[in-house]
Amino acid sequence: MDRIRIRGGNRLTGTIPISGAKNAALPLMIVSLLTPGMLTLSNVPRLADVRLLQRILQNHGIDITVAGKRVGQHPMMGDVMHLSAKDIVDTTAPYDLVSKMRASFWVLGPLLARCGEAKVSLPGGCAIGTRPVDMHLMAMEKLGADIAIENGYVLASAKKGLKGAHIVFDKVSVGATHAALMAAVLADGDTIIENAASEPEIGDVAECLVKMGAKIEGIHTATLKVKGVTSLRGCEHSVIPDRIETGTYAMCVGMTGGDVLLKDANASHLGAVIDVMQRAGVSVEIKNDGIRIHRNGAALEPVRVDTEPFPGFPTDCQAQLMAMMTMASGTSIIRETIFENRFMHVQELARLGSDIHLHGDTAEVRGVKKLTGAPVMATDLRASVSLVIAGLAAEGETMINRVYHLDRGFETLEDKLQACGADVSRISG
Ligand code: EPZ
Repeated sequence: MDRIRIRGGNRLTGTIPISGAKNAALPLMIVSLLTPGMLTLSNVPRLADVRLLQRILQNHGIDITVAGKRVGQHPMMGDVMHLSAKDIVDTTAPYDLVSKMRASFWVLGPLLARCGEAKVSLPGGCAIGTRPVDMHLMAMEKLGADIAIENGYVLASAKKGLKGAHIVFDKVSVGATHAALMAAVLADGDTIIENAASEPEIGDVAECLVKMGAKIEGIHTATLKVKGVTSLRGCEHSVIPDRIETGTYAMCVGMTGGDVLLKDANASHLGAVIDVMQRAGVSVEIKNDGIRIHRNGAALEPVRVDTEPFPGFPTDCQAQLMAMMTMASGTSIIRETIFENRFMHVQELARLGSDIHLHGDTAEVRGVKKLTGAPVMATDLRASVSLVIAGLAAEGETMINRVYHLDRGFETLEDKLQACGADVSRISG
């Protein structure tokens, strides 16, 4: 298994190109199930999760091709992917695939809407919390599906098609909102989705659906109004830049000091992260072609942050913020309100010399003067990358094991950091 070796202490200077968003690319690929036409996605990041979802969708009969690189094209530019679900040959999503990637559970809504049936494995355990799917199932039932659970599978059917409905979520869920939206666009009649997640990735999917002929109002808000249509056509759509990757590299620079342009980053998706960076004393400048992050010698100020659904501070940046705050000039308080078990990085950060105390859902991060390198490993991709951030500032060598977590969500991480002066290398297993 590959490992990443970091020798800490270098400031970062230069440009980091931001890739397409993993969490937009995955549901956009799933959207292809809704049409017999060709969906062409550009700016698709080259990630292990994308490749895995490709296999899962091919299992349903989707024909997928990824256009080769053209001469002169920048190696950091994302892929162009063509997806054609002319015939869906299998409406089953098996356990061995769904258990490897939770987002593949989201095929449930589109399969039901297009084929009137679906058999999708329950995703099973997860390193960051229990992550139930009750709200996904509630939304499908509201839309008229019959749902049963047998042998670890959700058996869903709507032989006469789905019907528009009033869906009110009692909690904000990205996945359940995707599911409800993807099913409602082909349902008969009007659907209102209240307390919908308004993460930019949902907006990106909704905008793609509109290009395909869906009728959706309230995009980017917490109330989505959908008028069902009988069919959707193919379209071309470019994946939005990855706000979590952006926040992660911003925190790398906050940690090491330096001056880096995060090229193509979209500041409007990062309001809460930018606010926290500025409160910590990191300078953030919004430019036409991205976001410039800058910090000279001054110490980081401690911060108090709660994770929240968008537009609040994202849970997917919590581990990275915690890593950055390990060397702040005082005590930071970070509360995780989305997932109950998303502190697995704390014990690994301790191996590097951090001083973090957990009190239920709250981490008290007491800034230390220095971190020292050590071998570490993590259980999910954001936790892994938090160890990279700490390693960049730690004295000596940090070896990150289980690099496959990083490869799920960060495209060519070591190349991007190296290009800005970090001493980071991949050691093949
Ligand atoms: C999405 O997961 C993201 N995944 C996660 O990113 C992200 O952390 C999360 O949203 C929150 O922003 C993708 O986009 C592929 P949720 P999702 O449903 O949709 C509870 C990463 O690192 N809930 O918004 O699964 C749930 O347990 C990943 O890239 C229910 O109770 O998250 C959680 O407490 C990890 N019942 C809360 O809602 C349900 O039916 C929010 O989860 C569904 C969710």
